[in-house]
Amino acid sequence: MSLRLGDIAPDFTQDSTQGTINFHDWIGDSWAVLFSHPADFTPVCTTELGVVSNLKESEFAKRNVKVIAISVDSVSDHNDWIEDINETQNTKVSYPILGDRDHKVSELYDMLHPGEGDSSPVRSVFIIDPNKKIRATITYPKSTGRNFDEILRVIDSLQLTDNYSVATPANWKDGDDVVILPTIKDPEEIKQKFPKGHTEVKPYLRTTPQPNK
Ligand code: BEZ
Repeated sequence: MSLRLGDIAPDFTQDSTQGTINFHDWIGDSWAVLFSHPADFTPVCTTELGVVSNLKESEFAKRNVKVIAISVDSVSDHNDWIEDINETQNTKVSYPILGDRDHKVSELYDMLHPGEGDSSPVRSVFIIDPNKKIRATITYPKSTGRNFDEILRVIDSLQLTDNYSVATPANWKDGDDVVILPTIKDPEEIKQKFPKGHTEVKPYLRTTPQPNK
């Protein structure tokens, strides 16, 4: 099934290192990041799971985001692997890792790419909002570890642009100037919505300080 931005993230019930998870119930009123791994006991994945673990409270929870990993091995393998991750990445993994030996979730989310050499998942990321809508997807090859700072940056952009009539420009990061949506044309509306002022570089390119800072 091909999933698109704006689709409802498919719901599922699957075992995890923290017991059986019904995905939509587990998300609740939070945002969620679901990210897949080719296999347990692999080097790149070990570093990724460690990085996410170390960002869980300091960065993801701060943004009301829950994180959940998936790998097509068993929950029992995941539990053994977590011991290695904790030991080598100086962390204590406290988010769930879904077991997916039956490929139920990885097929539902189209994480298996037959052209990629074997039947293990590629590195997919799904950013899902509290309405269970898929808001962003990013797919990396197996050989490239993900940049989780970029994933946090995308979440910042989504949460900002949900609340203000702005978009975020290239390489934007939290605190930088943003652009006013081209659909906002009325000068009075601009003044009211952007009291910090704005710069008109071109009629279609207007920058303004980040409204929530
Ligand atoms: C890894 O996580 O290290 C990895 C997994 C599959 C292919 C290449 C690297």
